[in-house]
Amino acid sequence: MIRFLGIIIALTTGILATENQKGVEGLSGDTRSLLAEEMRHIEKGMHSIFSNIVKGEYEEISKMATDIHDSFIFTKSLTQAQREELKTNLPQGFIELDRSFHATAGKLSEAAEFEEKKAVEENFSKMMGLCVQCHSTYATQRFKTFSE
Ligand code: HEC
Repeated sequence: MIRFLGIIIALTTGILATENQKGVEGLSGDTRSLLAEEMRHIEKGMHSIFSNIVKGEYEEISKMATDIHDSFIFTKSLTQAQREELKTNLPQGFIELDRSFHATAGKLSEAAEFEEKKAVEENFSKMMGLCVQCHSTYATQRFKTFSE
């Protein structure tokens, strides 16, 4: 009987653990739309960085990369409760990709500050790779092509 109970408990915990990891689908409407808003913001930022890379406007690149670095997801616009909500719903892999994205934006900003052309291109391209990596893993509901 005890063994049986043990199995039930193990199973329930397993289910609960997966429940907690629903990803963006587990977020409240408000938090999810904030995330989408944030995404559109960084998309615009990436467009502007692209234009400034081809024009050699390093100061502008640096400013925008810092803006993306500072504003992405765990932003000032989130309440403490929403921060907690994101942490409980988003899997560890998501958090790590977010962190990595952050760090790369910081490196891009620094490279632009020192007008290091190659490092600017490399970090911009790494950021783009991270958009696709995260979307194809955690945003397949929004971007259906990635679910195939
Ligand atoms: C750490 C994960 C992660 C990274 C990195 C990431 N995204 Fe997203 N993005 C998401 C998720 C998850 C969604 C889907 C949200 C949903 O379904 O509500 C999304 C949605 C979007 C959307 C759609 C927003 C809308 O209006 O519905 C855009 C545009 C977008 N991302 C742009 C980008 C760009 C550009 C980058 C890279 C510069 C990027 N994202 C990097 C996770 C990420």
